Amino acid sequence: MRILIVGGGGREHTLAWKINQSPLVEKIYCAPGNAGISEIAECVPVSAEDLEGLAGFAEKEKIDLTVVGPEAPLAKGIVDVFKNKGLKIFGPSKKAAQLEGSKVFAKDLMIKYDIPTAEHKTFENPDEAEQYIKKVGAPVVIKAEGLAAGKGVIVCEEEEEALLAVKRIMIDCEFGDAGSRVIVEECLRGEEASILAFTDGESVLPMVSSQDHKPIFDGDRGPNTGGMGAYAPAPVITPEMARFVEEEVLMPAVKGLKAEECPYSGVIYAGLILTEKGPKVLEFNCRFGDPEAQVVIPLLKSDLVPILQAVVEGSLKEIKAQWHNNYAVCVVMASGGYPGSYEKGKVITGLEEANEDKDLYVFHAGTKALDGQTMTNGGRVLGVTGRAGTLTETLDKTYDAVKKINFEGVQYRKDIGQKALKYLA
Ligand code: AMP
Ligand code: GLY
Repeated sequence: MRILIVGGGGREHTLAWKINQSPLVEKIYCAPGNAGISEIAECVPVSAEDLEGLAGFAEKEKIDLTVVGPEAPLAKGIVDVFKNKGLKIFGPSKKAAQLEGSKVFAKDLMIKYDIPTAEHKTFENPDEAEQYIKKVGAPVVIKAEGLAAGKGVIVCEEEEEALLAVKRIMIDCEFGDAGSRVIVEECLRGEEASILAFTDGESVLPMVSSQDHKPIFDGDRGPNTGGMGAYAPAPVITPEMARFVEEEVLMPAVKGLKAEECPYSGVIYAGLILTEKGPKVLEFNCRFGDPEAQVVIPLLKSDLVPILQAVVEGSLKEIKAQWHNNYAVCVVMASGGYPGSYEKGKVITGLEEANEDKDLYVFHAGTKALDGQTMTNGGRVLGVTGRAGTLTETLDKTYDAVKKINFEGVQYRKDIGQKALKYLA
């Protein structure tokens, strides 16, 4: 098979690495890719959001299956463009991708199909939102309706902060069109975890649970990022909880979407908060998480390609996936200044030394090859992933590798996985 991967981050490097192990695959392309991906796939200089350019490439190169990493091309309708041309592609349609792209769409679905989530109200008018906030008081969570690069959610401990958040979203239009509607939501307390699953619109095949680390600094302090590290499985998710999420969250969401004439296929990602009253959904994403993919995919023992094919062909119920009975940890190494402004073009050293262990993978995110050197080319630069039998062993192995890698300004969290240790003691 000839496979095209769309995207160029750590998630896409992980997908390329796993797909490259499949005996079914003859050639992998990645658009646009990065320095690490270029070692196992042919990188194509087409943007992940150039839908026509990508479809034209897939036709010309006789691609058998395209796998989409990021949300933006899904939200723009890449799956519809490919399907109209008779090309096979893994991911939800534009309509179904609203599950991530529109928080109002996701909330309406959850209410209608009784999926546990925070109480909320949607507003199109800032005055009404303000009156409601004054009525319910703080703490409260204010969310912009659309995609806002992970920045459109403001958890407010004080009422003043919530009123200001509504002003920022609806009057100052800080997030553009994404802020035309605002959701005012009950503030839930609890640990967060992610459950990703494959679905063909009928059946659901959950992956191992994982936990992301969104804030930039240790102890979950500082501004939110795309994700500074992850581990899997997440011991906070008990087998009972995983079953509950499959039966009460994932299946109703997939069945509900079908009933709404919005059949969903690809990866469905439930971002959960584990409250005293049980797991509740904070958000759905319509793709593999990043960095979650960098720990979940390395734990998949089965060949990924037949699973992707079964999702596209609607035969997922015939698939049984096998998982490694191990832990995986990913530590993201980021540019100094990220998630604010940062410089690019710093030389990265130590990559080969770090990669020596067979259960250690340095996945590239924002990197670029230049004159035989690997340079930084983004905010999140590398995801260093280790795999071993216990979490402590995995953490040691991963951080040992991280310490061998360097570039000017490098920052990474030193406490990835610490939250899990209390469940394993
Ligand atoms: P979201 O993009 O909706 O997942 O929100 C981003 C982050 O905001 C989540 O990972 C949580 O840390 C926080 N958050 C979102 N909704 C709530 C809520 N209802 N209660 C408490 N925290 C929340
Ligand atoms: N790591 C969070 C996400 O991929 O949305």
